[in-house]
Amino acid sequence: MDIRVENLNKSFNGKQVLKDLNINFPKGKITCLMGASGTGKTTLANILMNLLKPDSGRVEGLEGKKISAVFQEDRLIEHWDAIENIRLVNNLGLTKEKINEHLKEINLKDYEEKPVRLLSGGMRRRVALVRAILSDYDVLILDEPFKGLDEELKKQVINYIRKMAKGKTVIIITHDREDIDLLDANLISLP
Ligand SMILES: Nc1ncnc2c1ncn2[C@@H]1O[C@H](COP(=O)(O)OP(=O)(O)OP(=O)(O)O)[C@@H](O)[C@H]1O
Ligand SMILES: [Mg+2]
Repeated sequence: MDIRVENLNKSFNGKQVLKDLNINFPKGKITCLMGASGTGKTTLANILMNLLKPDSGRVEGLEGKKISAVFQEDRLIEHWDAIENIRLVNNLGLTKEKINEHLKEINLKDYEEKPVRLLSGGMRRRVALVRAILSDYDVLILDEPFKGLDEELKKQVINYIRKMAKGKTVIIITHDREDIDLLDANLISLP
């Protein structure tokens, strides 16, 4: 089933952020969500994840579905290493070796047995991504997952996402139009 957003409204302190929003996220496809800063992309992601209630309107198609996410912030446990962070939410019983394979596939180096607070922004982003990808999910929501990655690394990460999330419903918030082609994604722009 597609995810359908119907007549959604959300205001903060009297300022309307989402106004009568209607969107269809097709099942099993990647959709890019774009829009200028402050148009409500993260707010919509939070509503989809049921972390925030809309003022009115509905979301359909997520009943009983498992969602995995990269949040706008990394939300890592700073004094734990990458493997420990990934293991905290990974419910698939993966070995350390398997997790290392995933991190290496997206070119992460020099991360072992180091608290993640010592890693660069782009390294931390990839840890947060592998943590999301290695969880059990039906729907994947990624809020600016390519932050801090150079062009080459971004392409590598995009190939990894396309391979790993094949057949899953994926929503990716991005500011870069180029990503739509690279991801072979549908585009939804917030006004
Ligand atoms: N909890 C909150 N309380 C008050 N205002 C909020 C809250 N969350 C978001 N807003 C406001 O709602 C608007 C949309 O914020 P949101 O974070 O959804 O935008 P965004 O499209 O994700 O922007 P960006 O591209 O900068 O991440 C902003 O004006 C923001 O200040
Ligand atoms: Mg945002």
